[in-house]
Amino acid sequence: MKLEIYESEEALAQTLASTIAAAIRAHPNIVLGLPTGRTPLALYRALVALTREEHLDWSGVRTFNLDEFVGLGDRAVGSYHRFMHENLFDHVSVRPEHIGFLDGRSPDVDAECERYERAIAQAGGIDLMVLGIGANGHIGFNEPCDVLPARTHRVVLEEPTRAANARWFGGNMSAVPRAALSMGMATILNAREVVLMATGEGKVDAVREMMTGGITTELPASFLQLHPRVTVMLDEAAAAGLQA
Ligand code: GLP
Repeated sequence: MKLEIYESEEALAQTLASTIAAAIRAHPNIVLGLPTGRTPLALYRALVALTREEHLDWSGVRTFNLDEFVGLGDRAVGSYHRFMHENLFDHVSVRPEHIGFLDGRSPDVDAECERYERAIAQAGGIDLMVLGIGANGHIGFNEPCDVLPARTHRVVLEEPTRAANARWFGGNMSAVPRAALSMGMATILNAREVVLMATGEGKVDAVREMMTGGITTELPASFLQLHPRVTVMLDEAAAAGLQA
């Protein structure tokens, strides 16, 4: 894994936003895999600003988000779909029909997961997958477990993960759904290139184990070691365990 350490979250976000903007200019039909969470907020702010400054054309870009809560509609408070509209999609020229999202309200979860896998394949696969990481080493909503489903699937969320997500529900943990749909690690590893961002001291242990530990379903991010083109972008706080 290629490691890049930045002096601040802002510097990391600016660099990645420039890289993504350059990739969109070079490949106007690029397929992006996108994350939600606190970590990508600075990236999306920087991307929106760059898009305005450079009149970046998103009309050919396709996106697939990593995950979504079960039971939430696309504009529901706390839904990742709403998060993406508010922080990125509503501010760039991406076409609505080019936005790939798991439907958290689908009555047939298995069919919905299969539809998502087909949609990604029909788009030609994901060119650039951008990821965050959970403090317990989860990717998307692939939680630590004994057996990790390879493809897009339904997940029962760990309590710490629900607690970490309460901020999107006005701090009300009881409003956080108990299940989610997520791309599987094989879906993620099929991307041609992967960039993982981690910032803040809360990610120190997960980052260290991901990069230096063995590959284990107990730390799903460790599977990224199998991918030939992964860049890990850290701020100094998240990198502290590597420098020790
Ligand atoms: C969430 C998301 C992940 C995200 C992670 C870290 O639960 N499902 O895709 O990477 O947790 O989030 P944050 O960036 O807020 O720390």
